[in-house]
Amino acid sequence: MDGNGRWATARNTKRTQGHQEGLKKARDVILWCAEMGVPYLSLYVFSTENWKRPQTEVDGLFKLSQQFFDQLNLLEENGVKVVVSGNRAKLPKILLDKMDNVVKVTANNTKICVNLCLNYGGRQEIVCAVNKLIAENKQINEENLLKCMYVDLPEPDLIVRTGGKQRLSNFLLFQGAYAELAFTDTLWPDLTKQELFDIIKKYSNSLRNFGGLGDESTK
Ligand code: IPE
Ligand code: MG
Repeated sequence: MDGNGRWATARNTKRTQGHQEGLKKARDVILWCAEMGVPYLSLYVFSTENWKRPQTEVDGLFKLSQQFFDQLNLLEENGVKVVVSGNRAKLPKILLDKMDNVVKVTANNTKICVNLCLNYGGRQEIVCAVNKLIAENKQINEENLLKCMYVDLPEPDLIVRTGGKQRLSNFLLFQGAYAELAFTDTLWPDLTKQELFDIIKKYSNSLRNFGGLGDESTK
């Protein structure tokens, strides 16, 4: 969800205002994805690197995350199950309490599962999984590692980054090994339902062969 700051700067307003618009867009995107039949959606809300931002911006991002968790009715009405990935350490207690409550209350919803990546880093997730396996005296292999990620979800088919940068920035490094990548210059608050639909449609039509020859060999 990149580009909130630039969206705000272009409008001569504060970066926090951009994040506010970003939150609105996240809400929209969840509902659009549910409508389009996307079963799992991971949103990169706050990375382990985002702590380097000014404290006021960090506090603003946590406040907005709390606002997200305050929308329990909307999540319930739309069948949204919320799960969270990331390191709980250093996150404000009030945020953790709201988050835990939403995760608990929405656990049986089945329309769409939304994975909020909060204080998330892909490398840290892998290290954490390895340590879990060592502590449990289990073999370190791909299958066991996948099961030990912060949440046990299917691997992503498609990773979309808005805001013009073409990099993963420590997002779903292990699970995203075979994901299709889509980059758009559109700033996150400007993303439209049509553009998201077009990106997903393009991905749906593309051939995925996981390193094999797939059907292409017969064409
Ligand atoms: C949002 O966009 C990313 C989050 C931390 C939620 P940015 O804040 O990175 O926006 P730009 O890149 O400065 O425009
Ligand atoms: Mg950015």
